[in-house]
Amino acid sequence: MGKALAGTDFNELIKPASASGRARVESLTKNRKKILFVTSELADLIKAGGLGDVSAALPRALGRFHSVRILIPGYPQVTGSDHPIEVICDLDGYAGLPACQIGRMQLSDGLTVYVVLCPELYDREGTPYGDTHGRDWPDNHIRFARFGLAAAALASGEVCADWQPDLVHAHDWPAGLAPAYMAWQGQQTPSIFTIHNLAYQGLCDLESIPELGLPEDAASAEGMEFYGKLSFLKAGINYADHITTVSQTYAREITTADFGCGMDGLLDLKARRGQLSGIANGIDECWHPESDNRLIQGFTQHEWDGKRANMRYVEETFGLEPSGGPLFVIISRLVYQKGLDLIPQIAEHIVAAGGRLAILGQGEEQIEEMIAELASRYSGRIGFHRGFNETDARRMFAGSDFLLMPSRYEPCGLSQSYAQCFGSLPIARRTGGLADTIEDGVTGFLFEDGTAASFSAAIERALHVYRHPDLLDAMRCRAMVAPRYWRHAAKPYDKLYRNLINQSLAAPVAAARGPEHGWQA
Ligand code: ADP
Ligand code: GLC
Repeated sequence: MGKALAGTDFNELIKPASASGRARVESLTKNRKKILFVTSELADLIKAGGLGDVSAALPRALGRFHSVRILIPGYPQVTGSDHPIEVICDLDGYAGLPACQIGRMQLSDGLTVYVVLCPELYDREGTPYGDTHGRDWPDNHIRFARFGLAAAALASGEVCADWQPDLVHAHDWPAGLAPAYMAWQGQQTPSIFTIHNLAYQGLCDLESIPELGLPEDAASAEGMEFYGKLSFLKAGINYADHITTVSQTYAREITTADFGCGMDGLLDLKARRGQLSGIANGIDECWHPESDNRLIQGFTQHEWDGKRANMRYVEETFGLEPSGGPLFVIISRLVYQKGLDLIPQIAEHIVAAGGRLAILGQGEEQIEEMIAELASRYSGRIGFHRGFNETDARRMFAGSDFLLMPSRYEPCGLSQSYAQCFGSLPIARRTGGLADTIEDGVTGFLFEDGTAASFSAAIERALHVYRHPDLLDAMRCRAMVAPRYWRHAAKPYDKLYRNLINQSLAAPVAAARGPEHGWQA
């Protein structure tokens, strides 16, 4: 991840020799702002999906322009990592939220990570959100309210006087209360809330208000009330100064009833006020087929031997017959969103065409069982590994011909871009970020609706290309240069940060939303 950007806190930029280079770096670094990323996943330490990837790559790309630091809960994967944590502050308990400490760690490339240390909330085996069986922790509202309140403390300067952020950038419902606590405390620091997935809303009972120490107006529709519950996601949407989501198409989709998960009216209003924008995810610089040292062998557009070496690895690892037919892969959280219930209906098509399918992932029990059953029915042709490991994932992107991604909705999706980068063509539903990142028939294949017939037709088009090696090579080459790296994709965030910071300096909003709303410090 961002290996080229070594140096403490990214303040020490590479010093270019030429005068014009120096001028460019000077203009980039002039006016560096302090940005706090509030996120529940960070791929260096723990991830459940693409949020972890974005949280690791985007701050590093933004490090060219700004001083970016991260706040994350102290899960065992964080506190038990090789990086020492220095405790810098004790925070008192508040309402039903326990006391905690804030620690600071530095990753090998200098990125600073603040950690909320509260073993009773975070020191548990499992994912960031639930146990090893995928069941959500019943006290997630407490866990992530504590997290949001710690973010507000950092924003206020209480935690670290020499690094008070100019802007807070909170991600998804686990960070939704960060902008809300900041607003209730009357802070002037602007905040952005990024929706990575609208379907995960962080709901809890209205009765939790006293426990979370929320002011009365939290229970209103203008606050975070959502159909008789409290929604952390809605808190992020309503209290942040600006909302972004992770692709342009998804930004439009979420203002409609089909994709809005009940929040479409609110989001449409924000969009019309210019407070909602779609900024497409990029990918990290480390996605490079020639230099990725986790691959069995690297390769380029001119030399495919390495691709075949990775393919052999996937065949052996997943117990697939080396048939000489196309290799399809799925690397995914196994959840409703991903539309994988279509797989049993297209499996016969793939197998009959001489294809093989390798599936890596974990998630909902029902989907795992359905896939395990398929793998035993088509033994030697379909292989399944329950779980996730980054090395195998990369070798699968690299060794495959096609990636299947029939998502019902997809805010952005990173897997299709990783596949493209490694010369594997995505076959995906035309929705959200998939529609924005895949050019049908050029860098992958898109299908319109969620039916097996539509999916099958796209697979048939892919098989046709596979049977014509010159076409396949041409598409692979186009796909490999299609994904945008974060060094380009991060620029709209830079612009947005500067605009919001300038606006907040020109017209402070805090007085209007502050302590009279019932906040007790
Ligand atoms: P999403 O975030 O919805 O899962 P993306 O395509 O944005 O989808 O991101 C997928 C990222 O998560 C990729 O890096 C992929 O390798 C990784 N991934 C896929 N399945 C899992 C899993 N079960 N656990 C952790 N990471 C996973
Ligand atoms: C979410 C979305 C995915 C997106 C990722 C990172 O998990 O499901 O589409 O790519 O966040 O933004």
